[in-house]
Amino acid sequence: MIAIGSDHGGYALKQEIMKHLKERNIEYKDFGCYDESSCDYPVYARLVTHEVTEGRSDKGILICGTGIGISISANKVPGIRAALCTDCFCAEATRQHNDANVLCLGGRVVGSGLAIKIVDTFLDTPFSEDERHKRRIQQIEQ
Ligand code: RB5
Repeated sequence: MIAIGSDHGGYALKQEIMKHLKERNIEYKDFGCYDESSCDYPVYARLVTHEVTEGRSDKGILICGTGIGISISANKVPGIRAALCTDCFCAEATRQHNDANVLCLGGRVVGSGLAIKIVDTFLDTPFSEDERHKRRIQQIEQ
């Protein structure tokens, strides 16, 4: 299960991503927002990250205008490793090295074609399980 959320700046891209997840038969839950009215990205960061930390969703996807505000908010939550990605190299590396559990995107930064490739890369890349990466992730949590 994927938990997905956005503010108004990420709403349009979120619609494209949800359409793609549906086409891939990947289950998701949309935690809002539900239209393009101005709203506050920390609200959606909190809803989605709690789904992940409480084990109801395997991963989260969060989108705001830049991806920055929503990633800062998500990374305040213990146990969340949120990665703001603008390319597939970073999406692959953050799964392999950081075991990132939330992908953040900027709806005003990346087009939907690239964003969908980033989402696929993020969801399809496993954590490397390398000891050095596990050690570093433990250090983040301390
Ligand atoms: C909303 O205008 C915008 O500030 C928000 O979507 C995001 O980019 C913040 O980091």
